[in-house]
Parts: sequence; structure tokens; C-alpha cells
Amino acid sequence: MAFYSPVATITKDEEKSRKAKMSIIIERYKEKVSALPKNSIDHHLCMYEGFWYFHGFWYNSKADFSVEAVMTLQDEFQARPTNVFLASYPKTGTTWLKALSFAILNRNKFKTPIGSNPTHPLLTVSPHDCVPFLESESFLNNPSYASGLMATHIPYTSLPKSIINSNCLMVYVCRNPKDALTSVWHFFNMLKDDVSTPLKLDDAFELFSKGMTPYGSFWDHVMGYYKASLERPDKVLFLKYEDLKKDPWNEVKKLAKFIGNPFTQDEEYDGSVQKIIDLCSFENLSKVNKDGKQTAKASSDDIYFRKGIVGDSVNYLTSDMIQILDKITEQKFADLKISFEA
Ligand code: A3P
Repeated sequence: MAFYSPVATITKDEEKSRKAKMSIIIERYKEKVSALPKNSIDHHLCMYEGFWYFHGFWYNSKADFSVEAVMTLQDEFQARPTNVFLASYPKTGTTWLKALSFAILNRNKFKTPIGSNPTHPLLTVSPHDCVPFLESESFLNNPSYASGLMATHIPYTSLPKSIINSNCLMVYVCRNPKDALTSVWHFFNMLKDDVSTPLKLDDAFELFSKGMTPYGSFWDHVMGYYKASLERPDKVLFLKYEDLKKDPWNEVKKLAKFIGNPFTQDEEYDGSVQKIIDLCSFENLSKVNKDGKQTAKASSDDIYFRKGIVGDSVNYLTSDMIQILDKITEQKFADLKISFEA
């Protein structure tokens, strides 16, 4: 199974310059990567520090989101104490968390849209254009809207050391693994060029349950950040997609407080919290990214918005699959207080 998070549409010149930079990086880490264990099922994957990653040019000549990107960042990235990192396993709520955090931190700069002259970036571009991925935009040094906010799928234990040492804030969003698998499977098939041979759910299940997906085992990924949130609660906040769905008001207030921008009482009364919830809702963002005012950039991002609900996995996974995934979750999280309603 191949999974990837595409970056915003870029011009031909940018593409050329990216490819040149990536070739140098791939050459630099050639020996190190060639020594890594390769996956017997998906030969694009290699094991690095306990997690699977793509390596080399693996999709449409892109090398971001690859093991080489992680190695480069580990060697070169310098975090600042003012950075806020939004971390997640793919398909667990990254886009939503990006939108909410961006909207919270920039609520005074971009007034929440009123009337016919909305200026908020989230009404015209994708959340992925507002908050760059560390292993994509930042790795390639592209300009962005970055306001100290960055996102990453890198497992906690493989993060560039400067992120931990700079003591900056991190927010992790996680989601129940059955919905995450369902979302990954759909996402992959939406990306696939050859629609005549879609990835079978059985195969996606096999790979996901064995942890053989990019960024490795879902459970190990979650555990890394969960443990960090227990060890460094003032620096790492652990959120759940299901909680955001169920109680957005309190979860959004919690997020705002954690990232140093709590809502004032006046803001709570004047509807500011609700405006941000509405602006970042699945209904609104999926509309912006599909039709209406969106730019070409945003329209390429509509694949990030599928259903946006909790428990959709029951519509796809067999009861055997559900049982196996529940069992793995129970075993892996036995000593931790992580549970999922769906
Ligand atoms: P589904 O495929 O289950 O619909 P990520 O952003 O990490 O790639 O995760 C994508 C998942 O989050 C998709 O789940 C997508 O529909 C959902 N999603 C995207 N934006 C959302 C939002 N604003 N609110 C709720 N869910 C959202």
C-alpha cells in the first residue's frame, strides 16, 4: 500500500528546483538508506528507527515525506521555542487540527468572515497551504503562511532533536484505528493513477494491521506521543478526533489555551469560539475546497475531505477485521489509558 500526503500545486520552475534539491539529498543519504531493511511486500518502504518510510523518488518524482526527508531534518532542522508542532498519524485529523490551530492563532489578524467580504485564508485556500508540513515544505524551504505553526507525521522518537530541546509546544491528534484504516484506504485509492486496479481492502487491512504503512505502526506512533504527553504534559497535548467531534467547544478551548492563545470570557460570549468551530467544520472546509471561492490550489486538496464522521469503518470493515483491530488496540494500549468509543 502506498500512502502519501500531496503538497500544494507548484509551478514548473518550483518543481524543477525541488527535484534538483531532492536529487542532492537522495544522493547524500544513498549509502545510509541502502543499508536499511526493505519491506518484502511494498518495496518502496524501508525500516528506519522502528518505523516504515518511503525512500527515494517514489511517487510522481517527489521525495518529500520520505526517509531522506526525515534524515535531512534530523541533521539540519533547527526548531525555535516559538514553533508549535501539530503531529499526527496520516488520516487521523491532521487537516482539521491545522485549520483549527491556524484559525485560533490568527483570529485577530484575519477577522472571522462576516458578510460578503471574507478575508480569512481558510475561505480560499486549503489548511495545508496555511500550515506547512515539516517533512515537505520546510524540508524544501518553501515559503508559506507559516506563523510558527508546522505539522508533521514523524514519530515522536524520530523527531529532530531540536524540536524536543527547544521546548516548543506540540499537539498530537489521534483517531480510532478502524476509521484511520478506512480513511487511508480510501485516500490511497483516490490518489491512484490507475483506477482500474484499486487497492483491495483486504490488502490495506493486512498492511495496516502489521504496521507496514508509511510512518509505521499506527499503535506505536500513537504510543510515542501519548507517553510524551504524560512525561511532558505542559509541552505535548494529546487530542482525539472523536472528542473534537463530540465536544468541539471544550476541545477547541483546550487547544487554544494550550497553544498560548486562550479565549477570553468576552470572546466566549461574543461567539468567537463557535465561529472558529464553524469556519473549520467539515461542512465548511469541504465546500471551500471543492467549489465556490476556492483557488486551483485548494481544489487539489478536496481529497482531504471525504466523510469526516466517527465510525464509518463499520460500513466497510468485516466483523473479523474489526475484531482483530480491536484486539491489537487492546493489547498495544493495555498499560495506557487510551480508549476509543467507535
Ligand atoms: P474520512 O476519510 O474518514 O472522511 P487527515 O487530515 O489526517 O489526512 O485526515 C483526513 C480525515 O479527516 C478524513 O476522514 C477527512 O474527511 C477528515 N476531515 C478533514 N477535515 C475535517 C474537518 N474539518 N472535520 C472533521 N473531519 C475532517
